Amino acid sequence: MAGNIAIVPGDGIGKEVMKQAVKVLETLETDYALDVDYDVFDWSSDYYVQHGRMLPEDGLETLKNYDAILFGAIGDNRVPDDVTVWELIMPIRKTFEQYVNFRPVKQLQGINSPLDHSQNKKIDFVILRENSEGEYSDSGGLMFQGQEKEMAIQNSIFTKQGIKNIAEFAFDYARKHHYSKVTSATKSNAITHTMKFWDKEVGKIAESHSDIEYEKVYVDALAAKFVQQPEEFQVVLASNLFGDILSDLGSAVAGGLGISPSANINPSGEFPSMFEPVHGSAPDISGKGLANPIAQIWSLALLLEHIGRKDLHDHILRAIEQLLSDKSKVTKDIGGSASTDEAGDALVKILRENKVGIT
Ligand code: NAI
Ligand code: MG
Repeated sequence: MAGNIAIVPGDGIGKEVMKQAVKVLETLETDYALDVDYDVFDWSSDYYVQHGRMLPEDGLETLKNYDAILFGAIGDNRVPDDVTVWELIMPIRKTFEQYVNFRPVKQLQGINSPLDHSQNKKIDFVILRENSEGEYSDSGGLMFQGQEKEMAIQNSIFTKQGIKNIAEFAFDYARKHHYSKVTSATKSNAITHTMKFWDKEVGKIAESHSDIEYEKVYVDALAAKFVQQPEEFQVVLASNLFGDILSDLGSAVAGGLGISPSANINPSGEFPSMFEPVHGSAPDISGKGLANPIAQIWSLALLLEHIGRKDLHDHILRAIEQLLSDKSKVTKDIGGSASTDEAGDALVKILRENKVGIT
């Protein structure tokens, strides 16, 4: 068996796009001899409303038994966003030491970028975001609540080990995938403690990978370059907050949130890794059949690659590119007219047709 997968659809369009990913998974089982077990968990805002928590007390213990987690999205107006994020996604990322957040920014064939000049130049890079500490460290507090002098402190926590882990992963990733350059996002001109520390520690790892070009770019200028020269980038290394923002920008220039996948990786393999779209639960379009299922299905492809089925990852990506060539088969956000279900069904059909000749 290739592995066992925990599926957590979550809220809003998370449920709608996950339904399509499960259809793809089932097609791979019946038509491509994929042998996996999977279980679906209803941990979500509905679960919170019923039980007062986002997942059962032994939820993380349960997840530990799986090889990988396929996650949809969470967020619902009945539960504060910081509760859904900090009680479900963050504990999974942190407990399972998923310190790498991998986000490909790739303009697929058939997708138009909002940037005119990108028509002839290919946008194809990856963002590697530190995923376990930094600005998202939940350290801080409020003082003098309710008084005129009320104040809030939010600490950023950067550790030598944390920076080393993500920087080594980035340079090794570049080497392994034949990239020649790593770009580190910084802001050490203004954030003088943590970001200077980031530069110093990343610099050390860069020195020990002298075959890979290393550049550090201030994150504000980097944001502008994502728009003006996105084809220049290969591997972008960023802290938790900078990587979060840059990856939404990256996904926008490569065609939109509806197609962008991500992987939260535990490189040691000791704990399961988690695969999820970059987008959230999109309450503005939820329940209307407008959600693009591609980001979720591409996330499934990354999961399958992670559990040793790169062949199936490639089949899915090829099928997605085929789907994109027919605008009547894709959703409105990328210029099509199909519903979420229709897009999912059309992709399944392509996969079935393509299986001819595959043993
Ligand atoms: P969002 O990603 O849900 O939506 C941003 C915009 O992109 C919306 O206009 C939405 O309609 C569109 N969009 C997103 N995914 C799409 C898809 N598959 N197809 C077509 N259009 C799509 O981000 P937003 O609005 O900031 O947050 C909504 C909720 O999602 C909040 O509760 C937030 O906390 C949560 N969230 C959860 C995440 C997660 O589960 N990892 C990540 C980001 C946000
Ligand atoms: Mg984000």
